Amino acid sequence: MILDLSIDDLLTTTRTIRKRLDLERPVERAVIEECLELALQAPNGSNHQQWRWIVVDDRDTIGRAASIYRAAMDQYSADIAAGREQYMQGGSRSQEIGESVAHLKANLQRVPALLVPTLADRFGVQRGGTRTTYHDASQWGSILPAVWNFMLALRSRGLGSAWTTIHLLREREMAELLGIPYETHLQAGLFPIAYTIGTEFRRAARRPVSDVIRYNGW
Ligand SMILES: Cc1cc2nc3c(=O)[nH]c(=O)nc-3n(C[C@H](O)[C@H](O)[C@H](O)COP(=O)(O)O)c2cc1C
Repeated sequence: MILDLSIDDLLTTTRTIRKRLDLERPVERAVIEECLELALQAPNGSNHQQWRWIVVDDRDTIGRAASIYRAAMDQYSADIAAGREQYMQGGSRSQEIGESVAHLKANLQRVPALLVPTLADRFGVQRGGTRTTYHDASQWGSILPAVWNFMLALRSRGLGSAWTTIHLLREREMAELLGIPYETHLQAGLFPIAYTIGTEFRRAARRPVSDVIRYNGW
């Protein structure tokens, strides 16, 4: 099923879905593969395609992955409480987002499938090589456009996901669970995959262009 969405609708309504993930409806491998095929059209550095996409649809493994996710989120909350972590704090809509985040945390083990995109660490970030913005941008730019393509493709077919990175506080544990070679391969995040409950979504709350654009300089 392809939804009747204009390109602008698709781009403005591909939301972070947590409470409206349909936890009862199975997701066929064929639809995941179709979305991934579209995702892989994204640009990536030198077209190396040093990626591997781990789809988890085994219930026991999803349950274990969800445990790692919850433990990472608890660790994050403890770090905030102790003043050790400020990142991502204080954004707009933080109470609403907090409830939604808690819902996903409580239900992640029930999602039909998970995706963990991985990338070979060609830029030496984990091995302590010289690291510049060039390396970071090239590395993440070699996987994240494809991840976003994947989310757009899901949306176009009546499915949804939520971009999550919190489990990367415990990246090694996830690597052990999924057999990812931790020393050489990075994980880009953890993405629940499910049909959405209903297919109508609103535009995102974002700062207006006029606030953030400058012409010809800072
Ligand atoms: C880099 C990144 C990391 C994120 N990590 C998490 C996460 O670990 N858990 C979570 O529930 N949401 C996570 N999110 C989702 C954001 O909280 C979400 O995009 C925000 O709530 C705004 O929602 P919207 O995009 O639908 O407007 C992440 C998003 C991004 C882009």
